[in-house]
Amino acid sequence: EKGPYRHFMLKEIHEQPDAVSRVVGRYIDRAERTLAQSPPLSFDFATLPRMTVSACGTAYLAGLVGKYWFESLARLPLDIDVASEFRYRQPPLQPGGLAMFISQSGETADTLAALRYCASNDQHIASVVNVAESTIARESGSVFPLLCGPEIGVASTKAFTAQLTTLACLSLVAAKERGTLPDGAFEKLIDALTALPAALSQALLASDDIAEIARGISKAKDVLFLGRGALYPIALEGALKLKEISYIHAEGYAAGELKHGPIALVDDTLPVIVIAPSDELTDKTVSNMQEVRARGGQIILITDPKGAAIHGSTAAQTVILPQVHSFIAPIVASVAIQLLAYHTAAMMGADVDQPRNLAKSVTVE
Ligand code: F6R
Repeated sequence: EKGPYRHFMLKEIHEQPDAVSRVVGRYIDRAERTLAQSPPLSFDFATLPRMTVSACGTAYLAGLVGKYWFESLARLPLDIDVASEFRYRQPPLQPGGLAMFISQSGETADTLAALRYCASNDQHIASVVNVAESTIARESGSVFPLLCGPEIGVASTKAFTAQLTTLACLSLVAAKERGTLPDGAFEKLIDALTALPAALSQALLASDDIAEIARGISKAKDVLFLGRGALYPIALEGALKLKEISYIHAEGYAAGELKHGPIALVDDTLPVIVIAPSDELTDKTVSNMQEVRARGGQIILITDPKGAAIHGSTAAQTVILPQVHSFIAPIVASVAIQLLAYHTAAMMGADVDQPRNLAKSVTVE
């Protein structure tokens, strides 16, 4: 069943170009360069006052990227929290808002409890789920399926990029309905999404370079991941993936937060992974990178050809991903952090598909 792959996780990492291609095909009419005709929704993006997202773990981090997209492109305010906090906080919710739940399994106990709280507080309920027959899907007014097939590896990979792609497409649907994008911008974003499957295939070609970097990471005691903007949640996901399958302590930080505390950790034994494809924030992130280097930290830069040409010399090692529109850069960068966690754990002989203490579906609270 694993085919030529050593682990399900590696197989699922390689299934991502196909998985995101199915999602893109559902929302985007490639030939007409516009949104595809989609089934009617149980809510209206144009008049929504606000959106609330709850999820756990990796699914929560997908939602956190979604916040950047929905707020910047569709000007739709989005509150997000981990479901285990949200459900007990009794947050006040404006009637008629949209409550969205993201879950691979569709059975996560805390996410389901958050859904039921929102349903009893006059919210429209929508879910982004992989398992179509799941409880969360059944209790939702609108369901956005991930279409990525069963995910066997306990560490979520293809479900994560399918969640991101779904949220990216939905943020464009919302932007269109709310009329928030300037002329020409909409088509550029459509083109960016259309280019995504090929970009992920190209990103997978960095696997051998990443395996080389993983050799060093496997000897580290702690690892720091930094990112800015929509790449910040990818830094968090990089740390989560590495922790859960290699058992190396890792933390993700917003690059701008470095000087507010974590920089105290930096010395020459600390690998710092900086996720910085070229965009309008790269210069800021690079100045954070220089602060790390000045203290002896070993920088691993995940970037694109433009970013590498300008800033590669600051880093000890560089991973070069394809040059893409900044809209889809977080999805492309996801492949790199997944491969880094995978190669590190595989090299250390860890049970990659069944990490200790973890279950695929968390149906207890
Ligand atoms: C991490 C991971 C978990 C899940 C979380 C939510 O790799 O897989 O953090 O993302 O347990 O699970 P679902 O998406 O099934 O609700």
